Amino acid sequence: MSRTIIVSNRLPVKISKEESSFTLKVSEGGLATGLGSVYKQDDNIWIGWCGTEINDDEEKAQVIALLQKENLLPVFLSEEEILNYYEGFSNEILWPIFHYMSTYAQFEQKYWDYYQAVNQKFKQEVLAIAQPGDTIWIHDYQLLLLPKLIRDELKDVSIGFFQHIPFPSFELFRLIPWRAELLNGMLGADLIGFHTYDDVRHFTSSATRSIPVHATANIIQVADRNVLIDAFPMGIDAEKFESLSKDSKVQEEIANYNEILKDSKVILSVDRLDYSKGILQRLMAFEKVLTDNPEYIEKISLHMIVVPSRDSIAQYKELRDDIDKMVGNINARFRTSSWHPIHYFYRSFPVETLVALYSRADICLVTPMRDGMNLVSKEYIASRKDKGVLILSEMAGASKELADALIVNPNNLGEMYRAIIQAIEMPEEEQKSRMLALKDLVNKFDIHHWVKIFMDQLADIKVAEGIRKAK
Ligand code: G6P
Repeated sequence: MSRTIIVSNRLPVKISKEESSFTLKVSEGGLATGLGSVYKQDDNIWIGWCGTEINDDEEKAQVIALLQKENLLPVFLSEEEILNYYEGFSNEILWPIFHYMSTYAQFEQKYWDYYQAVNQKFKQEVLAIAQPGDTIWIHDYQLLLLPKLIRDELKDVSIGFFQHIPFPSFELFRLIPWRAELLNGMLGADLIGFHTYDDVRHFTSSATRSIPVHATANIIQVADRNVLIDAFPMGIDAEKFESLSKDSKVQEEIANYNEILKDSKVILSVDRLDYSKGILQRLMAFEKVLTDNPEYIEKISLHMIVVPSRDSIAQYKELRDDIDKMVGNINARFRTSSWHPIHYFYRSFPVETLVALYSRADICLVTPMRDGMNLVSKEYIASRKDKGVLILSEMAGASKELADALIVNPNNLGEMYRAIIQAIEMPEEEQKSRMLALKDLVNKFDIHHWVKIFMDQLADIKVAEGIRKAK
């Protein structure tokens, strides 16, 4: 029987060590939930890094046994590999270039050497279990070389690749010294998916301009194979957010917030710590709202959750310091004895608390400088009953779908400022009609729909290629 193998840099679990034994917490994230219906079935499996450094062989065996019960298979990474493949090549070259922050990129040869070696390591794990006829679905920019590495060894498997971050325009992508190798790596897949058609266009243009391949519309011919490049905008588990918003514990949390915040307008922002998220620009816009509209003092507040991430990388550390400073300045400048404008949290929260905040927030401010999709915008919508205003950056993939949000350019401070004012003042009827349209979309194109259309498309290509080659 053929099996489906999911491969991503991280497994959808958190492993922690208590005394001498390991415990496991399976992630409740959207991707994990959506793919749950796939990897938990039969002999299917998910391969990825377990997220912590484990060197002892006995401990590795313990972790393998623990994960096996969940249909998960760990890849163990050494300290050097984490430093050079994950932090280095993935997050100091690909991440900044793909998010249009090219001056942050560090083109170190050592990073490239490790990136190749770790992609090889993942290949070994896949080859140890894959059989002809299997379907392999590889995720994201940490594993761009893996499709070809597998294809070279197993001609007859079906390989899908999905990139969760943007694909930049050729003028950015061409800066990478190893661009041809990366493209050839991705083109080992039968189907390459992105969140938006712009990503599809940028990828196709980069491929035809950097390597000798020919494209007809969104099909790229690689030797005797056709590779389909297409857009699959990712959704969330909308049902889960909606039902959580009605849960009695979440209702209690909402009641607590209501008591503390009374009838003041709450603006919410939730991000991982990242320079691509436009956190400082958002703070500037909020500061301008308070500066130019003193009547809002004590009437509005910004609740800003920043989830710690990649904090061993210099730019992330700097950003954290800059946020601390700016929040401190704004709070010191505007606070009164009974109110402060920004409630800033640098930590993660359980999903129940997030849903309570989404439910209480009158406005959700999602203004990344660049984002593949941005699922926070969809989580906010799914948690709402009917009203509420979403302000969304046009640089987030989600803006292509969520047209009833207030769409802004995060580099345009004046536009962000006006959108915040418009949101604060928006009549309830308009809020409702926008939100209900947004809810329809988020409910219909959810994570289960996303998994299904990608997997169906991958299966269809296999059949079509079989017919084409038989002719
Ligand atoms: C983005 C990427 C994912 C990554 C996640 C968290 O969403 O697309 O591949 O897993 O960020 O980042 P981290 O570096 O902590 O895995």
